[in-house]
Order: sequence, then structure tokens, then C-alpha cells
Amino acid sequence: MRAVIATEPGGPEVLTVTEIADPEIGPGEVLLDVAAAGLNRADLLQRQGFYPPPPGASDVIGMECSGTVAAVGPDVTGWSVGDQACALLAGGGYAERVAVPAGQLMPVPDGVDLVTAAAIPEVAATVWSNVFMVAGLQPQETLLVHGGAGGIGSFAIQLAHQLGSRVVTTAGSADKLAACTALGADVAINYRDQDFVEVVAEQTDGGVDVILDNMGAKYLDRNIDALRTQGRLVIIGMQGGTKAELDINKLLRKRGAVIATNLRGRPVEEKSAICASVVQHVWPLVAEGLVQPIVGRSFPLAEAGAAHAYMESGDHSGKILLTV
Ligand SMILES: NC(=O)c1ccc[n+]([C@@H]2O[C@H](COP(=O)([O-])OP(=O)(O)OC[C@H]3O[C@@H](n4cnc5c(N)ncnc54)[C@H](OP(=O)(O)O)[C@@H]3O)[C@@H](O)[C@H]2O)c1
Repeated sequence: MRAVIATEPGGPEVLTVTEIADPEIGPGEVLLDVAAAGLNRADLLQRQGFYPPPPGASDVIGMECSGTVAAVGPDVTGWSVGDQACALLAGGGYAERVAVPAGQLMPVPDGVDLVTAAAIPEVAATVWSNVFMVAGLQPQETLLVHGGAGGIGSFAIQLAHQLGSRVVTTAGSADKLAACTALGADVAINYRDQDFVEVVAEQTDGGVDVILDNMGAKYLDRNIDALRTQGRLVIIGMQGGTKAELDINKLLRKRGAVIATNLRGRPVEEKSAICASVVQHVWPLVAEGLVQPIVGRSFPLAEAGAAHAYMESGDHSGKILLTV
């Protein structure tokens, strides 16, 4: 099969399409003919040599895809050859075929075409597991989403808005702020020329209840300033670095929580439980069109390098796809 391989750690130019052996499936696994794969920021790190796949996972980059079931391994129930699905992957998405643990396979939501479905697994699983399963956002509470126009952010805004929460978000341009408002954000803050802590203080009664943070170190102190009493900060990204000082006194007085999680490295059982919860709670909203996958741009598989360069430019909104 054709797959995208990084010939060596480096820039987008190291991504090359190569012929490699088809993946073999074992018990509990399904072989998928890939229709499209979604790009994730972690893919850029993996290409640069900083984010190796977890033990046992494919070396091929790609943490989500959509496609058609081509074969079903022993002990798999509920899936048959020819079914259309989308999948959360530990790796292997940038290829014509991928082996997937059956629990990480999800049906294509009603009303979504097969290619677009590749844009949903990572954002749905990340947002649902962090904002709702871990931080327990409630309908009457306020969520601050950093990077609201990105793949994760655009899904988080819609989901929290549809489930009845107030949503505050940050983005880096007037166009992106307008896109966030159109998706349901109540307050949109330009992180380039506004201080989000000041705006949160003006626009809320004592701060936000939950923050979904992509910046890590750079925003740690200010995120705690923006939290309301008993607020929960969930850090899922390190775009602003990994090391910062935590003012425990400030956090303690707010009785706040700081949580950091990642999805890819978790055991198959945990990822399968998240996928099942996503299908139960998120899919109905997608099927009704209340929460929509936002695809900014698609590239053919052979142009994976151009797709990475585009994501690195920061010009995109929503998800970037590779079509196979
Ligand atoms: N832990 C996990 O399990 C997990 C899973 C999936 C993703 N993630 C992480 O989640 C983050 C978002 O992923 P993605 O796929 O949505 O990537 P993306 O589409 O490339 O979005 C990146 C976002 O970062 C925003 N940003 C850049 N500088 C910022 C700043 N100073 N303040 C606030 N926002 C800023 C960008 O905003 P503008 O475009 O408006 O400039 C953009 O919305 C990444 O860090 C990714 O690694 C973590």
C-alpha cells in the first residue's frame, strides 16, 4: 500500500509517499481502507522526531481517519466488511490501509460524508473526554476555550454552546474571531492585542469554570487568574512551552484544579471507553447538524508535506484533511 513516511526527522519536505507492506490485523482489530486522514498538531512533532508513537503503534503518522472496513479480525463483533467508519488511531492514518482496535472505530455520524468524517474522531474524543468527562462542565457554567478557530477549538465551542454553557474563546485575527462567534462563542478575544484575563474579569461574574488550554506554560499563571472559585484548568497542548511556575497559593485560594492529559498514549480500553461515550453523547448532536465538523482545507495524500506546512503557517481554520 502507499503510505506517507518521514524519511528523517525534519521539515515538511521529509514527508514522502512510499510503498510499504499492508498492516496485519490481530484479534480485536479491524482493517480499514482509508478514505481520508485528519491532521493534528502532534503529527508535526512526530515528523520532527519529538513525539514517537506509543509502543506497538504504527510508525506511519496519523492519529485519525475515516474509511471502509476491508477485513475483520477474530473476536470482533458489530463490524462487517463494507461498513463505513471513522477511527481514533495511535498511528498509521496517512496510508491507504490501517489496522484499528475495534473499540476505537466509530460509525460515520448520520448526515456526514465519509471523507469529512475523518475530521471528527480526535476533536470529538479530546473535547468530550477533557471538557465533559474530566472537567465536568455543567450547562450553567462558563468555558474558556483557547484557540477557538482551530480544529479542537471550533468543535469545543459548538459542543459547549449546544449543551447550554456560556463560551469565551481566544483567536488571533478578526476573521477567526468572527468564525468563533458564528459557531456559538458568546465572547471572542483577540489574543494578539487583548489580555484575556481582563476580558474574562469584565465579562464574567468572578471568572470561568473550565478552561481548555492549548498553550501550556505560557498561559499557566494567567489561566489560574481567569478561573472562578472551584474552577478546572485542563491543559491539552504545549504550544507555549512545557515549564512554568505554579503559584500554589493562588490555586489553593480558588480551590482550583490543574489537569493535563493526552489521548494517544492511553490503553486501548480507555480510548475505547471514550469513543463509546462520544458515540452516545456527541454523535446525536452531529447527526442533527447542531455540531458540525469544520474542514478548512483538504490535500491529496501525496501532498502531506504541503498540508503540514499549511498547518505550521497558522493560517488555517478548523481541520485539515488528507484524502486517499
Ligand atoms: N492532549 C491531547 O490529547 C490532545 C489531543 C488533540 C489536540 N491536542 C492539542 O490541542 C491543541 C490544538 O490542536 P488543534 O488540532 O486544534 O490544532 P490547530 O488547529 O493547529 O489549532 C491551534 C490553535 O492554537 C491557537 N493559538 C496559537 N497561538 C495562540 C495563543 N497565543 N493564544 C491562544 N491560542 C493560540 C491558534 O489560534 P489562531 O489560529 O486563531 O491563531 C489555533 O486555534 C494543540 O496544542 C494540540 O497538540 C491535544
